[in-house]
This record gives sequence, structure tokens and C-alpha cells, in this order.
Amino acid sequence: MKTGIYYGSTTGNTENAANLICALIGGSQVAPIGDAVRADLEACDLLIFGASTWGLGDLQDDWVDSLASLSGTNLRGKKVALFGLGDQEIYPGTFIDGIKELHDASIEAGATVIGLCSGDDYDFQDSAAFVDNQFLGLPLDDDNQAELTEERIRVWIDQVLEEAK
Ligand SMILES: Cc1cc2nc3c(=O)[nH]c(=O)nc-3n(C[C@H](O)[C@H](O)[C@H](O)COP(=O)(O)O)c2cc1C
Repeated sequence: MKTGIYYGSTTGNTENAANLICALIGGSQVAPIGDAVRADLEACDLLIFGASTWGLGDLQDDWVDSLASLSGTNLRGKKVALFGLGDQEIYPGTFIDGIKELHDASIEAGATVIGLCSGDDYDFQDSAAFVDNQFLGLPLDDDNQAELTEERIRVWIDQVLEEAK
């Protein structure tokens, strides 16, 4: 299964998580979303997209530029898994909002989104990415819970690889 990990990161947290995910999935490739062309995405069976949230619920800048291109990509038959970096203490009402936009663009491109997560381990008030009592991807909070990030990723990657079979 060809796996590509693409991220948008302003201060490096999402980039670090993307690199860790890449190290855990043998043979996968990782790159900033700004470097990806449509053919790169279409060549993958499993795509893992990561983004942080800025402003008040805004998608990270690099993704804003790439989102229209993503929704126009043909991802029919592909699996997409999402992870989002955010801060549940300072932004409890828009926690990892950005990945909702990645979710919607992936669905528009024809992909199946896997890797949904429970909200039980998080203390937040609201999130656009929390739908039907589940996060649309893996929430990571390096601002308050950096010590949990690696283990959260390990558990989630097992789930994603199982669901991608
Ligand atoms: C000005 C500012 C606005 C932010 N807005 C949000 C937000 O609305 N929701 C959220 O979950 N996190 C928010 N964050 C937290 C960042 O998403 C978080 O620090 C993240 O780890 C940054 O990842 P990056 O370095 O990959 O860009 C904000 C941070 C800053 C400094």
C-alpha cells in the first residue's frame, strides 16, 4: 500500500507529527502539502493529511492555498486519514477546527475518511471537527499535552492501518 503523508505547519508541530508518522509507516513518504502536485496524491492508496488551526478556527495557511486543488483531485477508492494540531486550553471552542475543511475536501474528491477518534481524552468545548460524537481525525495538542503525542500517534496509526486494509 503506497502511503503519502502531507502536512501544513507554521511553527513545526504538525511537521514533527508528520515525520513521526512517516517513521512508523515503513515505505511511506512525507512532504509539505505545498510541494505536492495532484499526481503525487493520486498515486497513493492511503493519504494522511495533517494541519494545524490558526486564528479562530482557521485552517493553516499552506492548506488554504492547496484546498481547492485537493477537492479537484480524483481520490475515488483511496483512504484518507486526518490529524490536527491545536490548543484545547486557549482555543476550546475551535479546537482543531481546520481538519473539518480537509475532511470535506477529501470527501468531495471521492475518498473514504478513516481514523476517526473519540473525544474522551480531551477537554474542549466545541470543534467543527467533532461530528456525531467523534473527531474526524486524530487531535494532537503539543501546547498542553506534548508528552501524549507520540503514544496517541502510535495507537492511531495501528487503527488507521487496520481500517485501510
Ligand atoms: C494566534 C494563534 C491562533 C490559534 N488558533 C487556534 C484555534 O483556533 N484552534 C486550535 O485548536 N488551536 C489554535 N492555535 C494553536 C495552534 O494550532 C498550535 O499551536 C499548533 O500546535 C501549531 O502547529 P504548527 O506549528 O504545525 O502550525 C492557535 C495558535 C496561535 C498562536
